[in-house]
Amino acid sequence: MTKKTGLSLNPLHKNEAEIQLEKLRQQINEHNYRYYVLDDPLISDAEYDQLFQKLNVLESEFPHLVTSDSPTQRVGAAPLKEFTKVQHEIPMLSLENAFNEQEIVNFDKRIHERLKSDAVIEYCCEPKLDGLAISIRYEKGILTQAATRGDGTTGEDVTHNIKTIKTIPLHLLGNNVPQVLEVRGEVFISKTGFKKLNQAALKKGEKIFANPRNAAAGSVRQLDSRITATRPLEVFFYGVGIVEGAQLPNQHSGILKFLSALGLRISTFLEVVQGTNACLAYYHKMMQQRDILPYEIDGVVYKINNIKEQEKLGFVSRAPRWAIAHKFPAQEVLTTIEAVEFQVGRTGALTPVARLKPVYVHGVTISNATLHNMDEIKRKDIHIRDTVMVRRAGDVIPEIISVVKEHRPPNASKIVLPKYCPICHSTIEHIEGEAVARCTGGLFCPAQRKETIKHFASRRAMDIEGLGDKLVEQLVDIKLISSVADIYDLTLQQLENLERMGKKSAQNLLEQLEKSKSTTFARFLYALGIREVGEATAKLLALHFKTLPALKAATEEELQSVSEIGPIVAAHIAHFFHEQHNCDVIGKLIKSGVHWEAVKENKHQPLLGKTFVITGTLPNMTRDEAKEKLEKLGGKVAGSVSTKTSYLIIGVDPGAKFKKAKELGIPILDANEFDVFLKKFQLHLSSLTAKSP
Ligand code: IVH
Repeated sequence: MTKKTGLSLNPLHKNEAEIQLEKLRQQINEHNYRYYVLDDPLISDAEYDQLFQKLNVLESEFPHLVTSDSPTQRVGAAPLKEFTKVQHEIPMLSLENAFNEQEIVNFDKRIHERLKSDAVIEYCCEPKLDGLAISIRYEKGILTQAATRGDGTTGEDVTHNIKTIKTIPLHLLGNNVPQVLEVRGEVFISKTGFKKLNQAALKKGEKIFANPRNAAAGSVRQLDSRITATRPLEVFFYGVGIVEGAQLPNQHSGILKFLSALGLRISTFLEVVQGTNACLAYYHKMMQQRDILPYEIDGVVYKINNIKEQEKLGFVSRAPRWAIAHKFPAQEVLTTIEAVEFQVGRTGALTPVARLKPVYVHGVTISNATLHNMDEIKRKDIHIRDTVMVRRAGDVIPEIISVVKEHRPPNASKIVLPKYCPICHSTIEHIEGEAVARCTGGLFCPAQRKETIKHFASRRAMDIEGLGDKLVEQLVDIKLISSVADIYDLTLQQLENLERMGKKSAQNLLEQLEKSKSTTFARFLYALGIREVGEATAKLLALHFKTLPALKAATEEELQSVSEIGPIVAAHIAHFFHEQHNCDVIGKLIKSGVHWEAVKENKHQPLLGKTFVITGTLPNMTRDEAKEKLEKLGGKVAGSVSTKTSYLIIGVDPGAKFKKAKELGIPILDANEFDVFLKKFQLHLSSLTAKSP
């Protein structure tokens, strides 16, 4: 389709057109760079629009000459069916976190020890942006692929979406372009971009985003890039992956400058400093500037500037040894409690939730805070209409830290535990001495039913993609399902008639439901939502009893013979299988086709019978990682030191446990010794790769 406009350059020969197009693209790319990256435009918006229009017209006259890196190709294309996976040849690592100055000093000390050097270390300090990590590959200077971080080794191909981001060049600038260059950075949405996005969503009656990070992640993971193109996404690059055909500078700061020269946007707050005191000064400076920055940062990152030293240090588990994130403390604000509601959980537990006068804290609007339970309310002496200090820390639900008693108004009212369930009106049971009050409605209570089904479908349980919380609520409300057993009866016709569900999504959901039927015994047990049976207990049960009939037949005593399972958990399990309606649900699920492979015996458990306690911060792995490694080898990890402890593992700042272990004469492993200890079993670890039973 040829547009005939006054701007038409026809008749042009193909060659001339090619040259014109190339020139226009180059001009526009350079203006884009000046405008979006340098924030220093050379021409007016109107002049820019004219150039763009010229390119559009010429491309429509010569459609076969449109290139993938043309600035016109940012607008977004037809939706994809699904994301394809991308393997990261060089893993996309995460960062170790530090929350106080001592941890930074310790980090620096470890670096000195590892490098066997007394020289003051040079660090490159950068803001830690709160968005999502992205890896972008340029071949001969042209953007060919963009992928999310995913689990670090496998991400998702989001090229179509990334190309809509104006701060990301589709074509690198300059003559010094490497053959292959993979750059890594953070995609984010600015504070104003976020506000505008939510205002627009509110106007259209759509769901608003909780914070800029969610908005950025949701926008990048869109199948329809036309939606992404409307989102105010930006980027800062902070590193490289694969590089071919170029010798990069041997300092991290030099690499970033090199990226900048190619037209890749880097932070304007980079600083190269000597030693930790200067790092800490940078931290304080950035913390002070935080509120006036146009985007959210949740801390700063210190990176050893010398690349040779980075290489010497390497990485451990999922983070490099040469970098550390120094996180800002949790944010606290004052607001008032407007009301308190009680939410009913999967097991009937009532959680009081404070509805707050909305407050904006560093990019997030807070309007709810958990009050945990009645004891907590009493302890903190919280009343409705009180002015309270609310803390937001990372992703967790905001919490009320304290009440400003001097501000308590005369009409402040006490928070009273309801007598009846706010959802199903069954009586509420509050056993003396127990923190939690519960609805006695069981699966008669729609709230408990909904939560049970949400849990069943969740990622770590049956992993039914597409059966999210909202959909479960809708399905229960309109009575299409009332227990987990009903979800496999859902039909295409029922699903496609639901509000906000097209035929395609309905088909996808049915496919996912079918896929979920093939599971593991442990996942199935966890999915059932038996009280006190979390993932770890489910795994132990699966491993011990191997089959469902064996588990169902187990007495409380037999259940207690499994390590870690005490009388309370055993009673809950036995009770669950005694209830006929639970057995009916299980029967129906199996009849619907839910199945699993026979549980494999894990014979390589050299640490079976050994109990470990971990104290202090381990430099090379998180406690959860250490725990997982020990458990895979058959070891048990306990919370306190006793005569039964086989080893105490100490990290940085070990506490009272260290003293107690010394008193009891328990063998102690420091972080290095622990590394060696684990390495001894490394072969076992790598051979234990089978999907956990
Ligand atoms: S460097 C090998 N630098 O933080 C080092 N990461 O918590 C990998 N992030 O996944 C990351 N700003 O998404 C680095 N200046 C910065 C960063 C940064 C934000 C994110 C990144 C990473 C996460 C780790």
